[in-house]
Amino acid sequence: MKGILLAGGSGTRLHPMTLAASKQLLPVYDKPMVYYPLTTLMLAGIRDILIISTPADLPQFRRLLGDGARLGLRFSYAEQPKPEGIAQAFVIGREWLAGEACALALGDNLIFADHLSQLLQAAAARPVGATVFAYRVRDPERYGVVSFDTAGRASDIVEKPAAPQSNWAVTGLYFYDARVSDLAASIAPSARGELEITDLNRRYLEQGNLHVERLGRGCAWLDAGTPDSLLQAATFVQTIQSRQGMLVGCPEEVAFRLGYTDAAALRAQAQGLGKTDLGRMLAELAEGAHE
Ligand code: DAU
Repeated sequence: MKGILLAGGSGTRLHPMTLAASKQLLPVYDKPMVYYPLTTLMLAGIRDILIISTPADLPQFRRLLGDGARLGLRFSYAEQPKPEGIAQAFVIGREWLAGEACALALGDNLIFADHLSQLLQAAAARPVGATVFAYRVRDPERYGVVSFDTAGRASDIVEKPAAPQSNWAVTGLYFYDARVSDLAASIAPSARGELEITDLNRRYLEQGNLHVERLGRGCAWLDAGTPDSLLQAATFVQTIQSRQGMLVGCPEEVAFRLGYTDAAALRAQAQGLGKTDLGRMLAELAEGAHE
């Protein structure tokens, strides 16, 4: 399975911060925002990743992430000239995908959960259909919303409904089977002129092929698209890291734990981060590997 990291858009809800910088490169506490969804894809076992952003911002992503080799990954890059919808990622990435199954992560979404890698790997292993993750929120009208029948099966999925039928928001992490490019190419732009991810998900739902995984109490899902949610995400990461001494959203750590890099590589990466807390924590992890 391949992965797409979608990091375009104009970030208007974060103006003026995003007038001259990509939203997904803004800091969430001690790391660029895009590191968090990147590590989510890595935890799903995905190593081949297409990064999509605007023509203006894409060079900065290349500068930050390179070809991925230092993390044992393969990064490719593609431009989205205009923000014409999340599902357009599969039209832009069609040739690169070459008919493979694909996960999509929005560059401003952060998911933190116990046993997350098991959940993600189960989704990646499902050969047919799509998997989305639903999270209970107070303000479902801001999101794609999934409702369920009495048996607990997903019955409908609607983008930003004025009168939501449930409190279950669809998070910005999606797993699709090999038909995704064809299905994405077949959907029409919505009234706001976008290829809506919710329309793609509805196709799968109508075919009885949409698996909805409900994330429970122990999970945190944050999107960092507004000043408040950006601050909440940063505070969350700071709290976990300083209280538990565990890193959140650190690709160097995940690459090491997955066995893509060795202790020597991790030590060098830690040194590259100088005297930061992040560098110190990675150095400790590399040391521990010797015990
Ligand atoms: O965060 C989860 C929500 O993301 C889902 O619940 C919704 O169903 C889904 O439509 C989306 O809603 P948003 O209102 O957050 O969508 P937004 O237009 O802000 O786009 C989300 C991210 O994707 C954002 O970081 C920018 C990026 N993006 C968006 C579009 C439409 C692109 O890179 N290109 C695009 O064309």
